[in-house]
Amino acid sequence: RTLRARGLHLLPGVIDSHVHFRTPGLTHKEDWAHGSRAAAAGGVTTVIDMPNTRPALHTVERAHQKAELIEGTSLVDFRFHFGVSPHTVETIRDLSPRVATSVKVFMTGHHTAPDVIHDPKVLARVFAVAAETGIRLVLHAEDDGVFALLDRRQGTPRHYDQYERTRPRSGGIVAVTKIIELVRRYGTAAHVLHVSSAEEADLLAAARHIGLPITYETTPHHLSFTAADTHRLGARIRLSPAIRHSDDQQRLWDALVGGEISTLGSDHAPHTIEEKSRPAPDAPPGLPGVQELLTAVFTGLRRRFPHTSVDDSLTLLARVCSAEPARLFGLDQQKGSLTEGLDADLVLFDPEATWLMSARHAHTKNHWSAYEGWTFTGRPTTTIRRGEIIWDGTSFGPAGGVWLDARNPLATEEPATPHHPRATREPAPA
Ligand code: DOR
Ligand code: ZN
Ligand code: ZN
Repeated sequence: RTLRARGLHLLPGVIDSHVHFRTPGLTHKEDWAHGSRAAAAGGVTTVIDMPNTRPALHTVERAHQKAELIEGTSLVDFRFHFGVSPHTVETIRDLSPRVATSVKVFMTGHHTAPDVIHDPKVLARVFAVAAETGIRLVLHAEDDGVFALLDRRQGTPRHYDQYERTRPRSGGIVAVTKIIELVRRYGTAAHVLHVSSAEEADLLAAARHIGLPITYETTPHHLSFTAADTHRLGARIRLSPAIRHSDDQQRLWDALVGGEISTLGSDHAPHTIEEKSRPAPDAPPGLPGVQELLTAVFTGLRRRFPHTSVDDSLTLLARVCSAEPARLFGLDQQKGSLTEGLDADLVLFDPEATWLMSARHAHTKNHWSAYEGWTFTGRPTTTIRRGEIIWDGTSFGPAGGVWLDARNPLATEEPATPHHPRATREPAPA
């Protein structure tokens, strides 16, 4: 089959290191067949899935069960961030290095996270154990105590707009401050997720300046929407952390272009339209975004930095959407080696395409997008996962995505404890 690529740019496949594909237990919101198609249509070839499923992902055993559920349904390759609850802190030691490079810590929960670490002593223990084990923490950095205080003072407001306006940015600032202090104390590798405010970006820049091993992510939606869009989009852009103001957004764009931000994660966290239509505060936070990730941020770069060349914009995206997530989460090892050959995970991207985003284009299970009505610039026209075309601009290839940990040479070693099954992989379906 001949691929036409004249005028197109060839990029490394996007690694989206922050998705919630909802298996097991929450598959009315999303499943791997739909989520991975949305990914493929967005130029994504690998995703790292979050652990806040039902049940949550705490053990290697559950990771094997989860991988079994997924294989044969996913177009893209995948791995998992493991969860931790106040009762499972010491078991972080069992995870590494066989199937985990990362543990997700929720410092707040709201509707969606079953395992929140509130107790400062437990949080400190997580940082200590992770540092000893050599595993990276990825953190949802919002301080629950700040929300509780506010709810006690004001009662929980019922009206959506009012609720959104009163959600304190201080919750994020307090949490990021705690993280910096704990990294300073224990030396833990920490990656702060979905950073949303200018103050958090300033704190993280200072931490990096003094050489602490802290990196951070922001999301396409924090770069694309502001609180002013809430009037139009309502709970569709209700998120945790919340969408902030235009000065925050400007600070995040400057951080992205200035090299302060390590990764872009879509935080693809779909809910049904019915769930999102509930009156606040019952509408759950989160929106789908794996399909929009590359195109939405490219669109923003072209509009906000028109004097930056297309090449420079795409080079930046290749760094934060592929190279850095690969480095932080060990995918450079699991995707082959420079001597033995690397997986052909590639995207052909048309930087000149302009097109109207509509629900019709949204491949996520519930077929909605906060970007409906946006005119996007740029489009992934072909997505190739390990040499196989999984998206050709109109249709999808086979669901041959694999659990990358099963390819890790370390994963086939005898497990440290007998109750953990060996990592073996079923042959991929034909
Ligand atoms: O907006 C969010 N949605 N933030 C989270 O932390 C969880 C996520 C979800 O799982 O829906
Ligand atoms: Zn989160
Ligand atoms: Zn998330």
